[in-house]
Amino acid sequence: MPPVTIRSATETDAAAVLDLWRAAETTVSVTDTPEQILVALGQPGCMVLVGEVDGVLVGTLIATFDGWRGNMYRLAVLPPFRRRGIARQLVVEGERRLVALGARRITALVEREHDWATGFWGVAGYTFDAGMARYYHNVVM
Ligand SMILES: CC(C)(COP(=O)(O)OP(=O)(O)OC[C@H]1O[C@@H](n2cnc3c(N)ncnc32)[C@H](O)[C@@H]1OP(=O)(O)O)[C@@H](O)C(=O)NCCC(=O)NCCS
Repeated sequence: MPPVTIRSATETDAAAVLDLWRAAETTVSVTDTPEQILVALGQPGCMVLVGEVDGVLVGTLIATFDGWRGNMYRLAVLPPFRRRGIARQLVVEGERRLVALGARRITALVEREHDWATGFWGVAGYTFDAGMARYYHNVVM
């Protein structure tokens, strides 16, 4: 397979990023709109990364630094391109950029019953935190 190129997404990628999330069967949430992706692209601490193979967008990762902690969201790779290390490369690049901004701890929100996701984060060096629970509230529907 040709190598994957990791780069920052631009405004022209917004629709393709949403298409990729649908094709990769990520869990859809209130934030999955073109408008929200454009908001993310305009924030200095929010890095929307895409992986490309031969000019085709095959993977994404959103890495954010809020001044205190780093967080990763929307790690996704298209099914035909999985198990080739693309997610790992996206995470390594996300970590590199977060560390450069000052992050010392990075958290990934992972659906407990998604074995493929827990399998990935475990080997990527992330520790499962059984003591924490996630609380969320959609302030705009
Ligand atoms: C999770 C996901 C991003 C992994 O992408 P990927 O590019 O295939 O991952 P990589 O090739 O970098 O995998 C690195 C390692 O993670 C582990 N891993 C990856 N997929 C796995 C799976 N389905 N089951 C168990 N372990 C897995 C393996 O140890 C793998 O190394 P190996 O292939 O040498 O065994 C991809 O399956 C995906 O997009 N899933 C749907 C969206 C999703 O659930 N994202 C996670 C959000 S938290």
